[in-house]
Amino acid sequence: MRIDVLFTPLGLNVGDLTGRCVVVIDVLRATTTVITALANGAKAVIPAATSEEAVRVASNLEKDGVLLAGERKSLKMEGFALGNSPREMTPAAVAGKTIVLSTTNGTPALVATQGGDPVLLGAPANFKAVAARARELLARRGDLVIVCAGRDKQFAGEDAYTAGRLVKVLKKGLRKVALNDAATAAVALTDAWASWQEAVEASEAARQLAELDLGEDVRFAAQPDRFTVVPSYADRRIT
Ligand code: MLT
Repeated sequence: MRIDVLFTPLGLNVGDLTGRCVVVIDVLRATTTVITALANGAKAVIPAATSEEAVRVASNLEKDGVLLAGERKSLKMEGFALGNSPREMTPAAVAGKTIVLSTTNGTPALVATQGGDPVLLGAPANFKAVAARARELLARRGDLVIVCAGRDKQFAGEDAYTAGRLVKVLKKGLRKVALNDAATAAVALTDAWASWQEAVEASEAARQLAELDLGEDVRFAAQPDRFTVVPSYADRRIT
């Protein structure tokens, strides 16, 4: 059995993960936002690598029931219906809707994992549920890749910590699991903080969000096991 962690999607191209089991993590905030949207009844989320692509994809869909969502520099894109805050993804806003989402790091990372089979989305918000699915996949297929979205193609503490917690849970009780160096480092990192809250709040992304008065999103994202939904990305949409 083998678990690889990628701390960033740098150098990862569509097709590189073809046939491998993948979990994508972007705690602040893209995967937390998608998990919340689907838990609250959104029909699907279509990730776009750029805002231009999001506009193009949305214009090719039936107007009814489609919402454009996304951020640049953490703030809602002008002209888009929603930003990238999980707290915006209320049942009233998203139930029955298809959301076309573009974010700085999260959605490009997702797009780069196309070909993975399956590609699951994880965050503290669905941790137990995604860990259960990943464990079952690892047992059956013997191979898992955890892709951290990172921040501006750099290491992001909150994603790496979550990856480490996942590797630790997956390894438990198994005798022989080969880890790449990033997976080993991610596990070591789990000793650096005592809780999800500490780890997520210590991150640079959390500081930037707090400066923009979005500290409530950080607290939302740091609370584990809010939802049991495990989104899956296939055929260009997340359901
Ligand atoms: C991203 O994709 O870079 C993040 O979701 C940024 C954010 O928190 O809006």
